[in-house]
Amino acid sequence: LIHLLSIEGLPKSIVTQILDTAANFVSVSDREVKKVPLLRGKSVFNLFFENSTRTRTTFEIAAKRLSADVINLDIARSSTAKGETLLDTIANLSAMAADLFVVRHSESGAPYLIAQHVAPHVHVINAGDGRHAHPTQGLLDMYTIRHYKKDFSNLTVAIVGDVLHSRVARSDIHALTTLGVAEVRVVGPRTLVPGDLAPMGVKVFHKLEEGIKDCDVVIMLRLQNERMSGALLPSSQEYFKTYGLTPEKLQLAKPDAIVMHPGPINRGVEIASEVVDGKQSVILPQVTFGIAVRMAVMSIVAGNEA
Ligand code: CP
Repeated sequence: LIHLLSIEGLPKSIVTQILDTAANFVSVSDREVKKVPLLRGKSVFNLFFENSTRTRTTFEIAAKRLSADVINLDIARSSTAKGETLLDTIANLSAMAADLFVVRHSESGAPYLIAQHVAPHVHVINAGDGRHAHPTQGLLDMYTIRHYKKDFSNLTVAIVGDVLHSRVARSDIHALTTLGVAEVRVVGPRTLVPGDLAPMGVKVFHKLEEGIKDCDVVIMLRLQNERMSGALLPSSQEYFKTYGLTPEKLQLAKPDAIVMHPGPINRGVEIASEVVDGKQSVILPQVTFGIAVRMAVMSIVAGNEA
């Protein structure tokens, strides 16, 4: 694996290798062990052209745990504001001996464009591109599900909310399908569910109560208002009434169902505070697992011993 741009097309063996490698890194991400030398002498450039709290920070922590030098380019203060193109920015950072670019961009495909133009020894990891893909989120979601549920083969997983604009939903669907989950469901209003899911073997529901019934895993998504305009924008209160996950509605899922959310959460819009902070929520463990999963991905693509 030279780059990680998408989960789509990755064989099950590689997805499993990443999850297994992440399991070995949990003690490092927990800081029982402070550092491993797998990326010693390598320079990791975090290029976040779009906002981030979790992904950017956990990539930085993960790279430091792997002993890499980490450079966070402050995009807002960079020369992109003076008209420098994406590829010229990359060329200049490559001239500073970059080994790995972690890229988030609002344009779908931007990490692919970069991967096509970097030298063969330079690696690119997609940290979220437009509404296309967020592969490391998909992988940390799979790690979380495996941690709590052990085996994928008997699971029913519901992805609820604004699937149309969600790169996380796409990556999760590809990962769940690759790992052989019994049933993948998508739940949301007709305006926010894409029409091309059936060929992927996904069942579509428009009623929350029906979609989460007897599920093992419920993945909630926020309304990605920044990717919507005009008629698509639902009111928060109306949306919560119909698609918000409340403790009462969660009772329709299996009693031991886990509730996930990639974050950022909007309390009282797609999910009630009582659910976020409740016993079935694994939203914060997802964030913690993200460190080990990102260590695994970086060590596999660019590690000294990989
Ligand atoms: N889940 C996720 O991508 O969060 P951030 O946007 O904060 O990185």
